Amino acid sequence: MKALVITRMGGPEVLEIQQAPDPVPGMNQELVRVEAGGLNFADVMTLQGGYPGTPKPPLVAGREFCGIRERDGQRVMGYTQWAAFAERMAAHSALLWPVPIEWSAAEGAAFPVNYLTAYFAYWKAGLLEKQSGGPAPRVLIHAVAGGVGTAAVQIGKLLGVEMYGTSSSEEKLARVKELSLQHGINYKQRDYEDAIKELTYGDGVDAVFEMLGGEHTAKSVRCLRDFGRVIVYGNATGQKSTVDPRTLYAKGASVHGLWLTYLSQNPKVMESAWKQLSTWIQQGHLKPIVGHVFPFSKAAAAYQLLQKGSNFGKVVLQIV
Ligand SMILES: NC(=O)c1ccc[n+]([C@@H]2O[C@H](COP(=O)([O-])OP(=O)(O)OC[C@H]3O[C@@H](n4cnc5c(N)ncnc54)[C@H](OP(=O)(O)O)[C@@H]3O)[C@@H](O)[C@H]2O)c1
Repeated sequence: MKALVITRMGGPEVLEIQQAPDPVPGMNQELVRVEAGGLNFADVMTLQGGYPGTPKPPLVAGREFCGIRERDGQRVMGYTQWAAFAERMAAHSALLWPVPIEWSAAEGAAFPVNYLTAYFAYWKAGLLEKQSGGPAPRVLIHAVAGGVGTAAVQIGKLLGVEMYGTSSSEEKLARVKELSLQHGINYKQRDYEDAIKELTYGDGVDAVFEMLGGEHTAKSVRCLRDFGRVIVYGNATGQKSTVDPRTLYAKGASVHGLWLTYLSQNPKVMESAWKQLSTWIQQGHLKPIVGHVFPFSKAAAAYQLLQKGSNFGKVVLQIV
């Protein structure tokens, strides 16, 4: 079969489509004929050798996919740590979910990581219960126009949340506003901490979804109101966070970590997430935002786009 192989650590130039042996499903695994793969920022980090737990190259890339389950012909979407960007893959049965009939393979490949991560961010923020009465809780979503960001906006709308989102471009913000983002902040034009102060009349937000690292974790803490939570789930700047725990005392604030790799090994947590997400899917409330589809042969260009932060929504590889 054809597979996208990380030949060594480096940039997108180390990716090669090669012939690889067909996978042999192990215990609790099933064979899937992959149609499309969802590209994640974690794939970019994996290439550079920066993703924890990744085996040494050569290694087949890819963390999520959509395809046909060999056993029953059902179209499924799934999550894994690597080996998804290949014509066939051996997937963990518990991390395969049925794809709605009206979705394309690209949409299926764009679902698992973004929506599970966004769902868990609201869970960690204590905001999963739909608010009735009283003011809507406020959430600041960094990289709001990206894969996880657009999923967080769709879920935030369902939960009745007042959403503030950052992006580098007016054009991206305009597109996320169509998804119901209420307050767009172009961080190239203005400091988002100042913007949050102004937009919330000095009060702050209940939660920040923070995936930048560096100075942004501390800045995000400063955007909180009383008892607010920063949910840390990424490090796109590549810089170490500089947050002083003493800054949390004053507002009773807290910082929470979120890592899907870890949560995906907890069946109870995953089942309850899927129960809610699948209900929203059936009700027609969730639809993955696929911004860019690349043919398999142009995988390196897809990685480059995500690495530069030029994407809107999800970047997908069409494998067959
Ligand atoms: N912990 C977990 O389990 C988990 C799971 C999924 C994703 N994540 C993390 O969540 C973040 C978003 O992932 P994603 O796959 O959905 O990517 P994405 O948001 O679709 O793409 C990244 C976006 O981040 C913004 N950005 C800001 N600073 C950046 C920088 N220094 N380099 C590159 N992009 C930058 C860019 O948007 P603007 O131009 O609009 O700023 C870019 O489009 C990543 O940090 C990823 O590692 C974590």
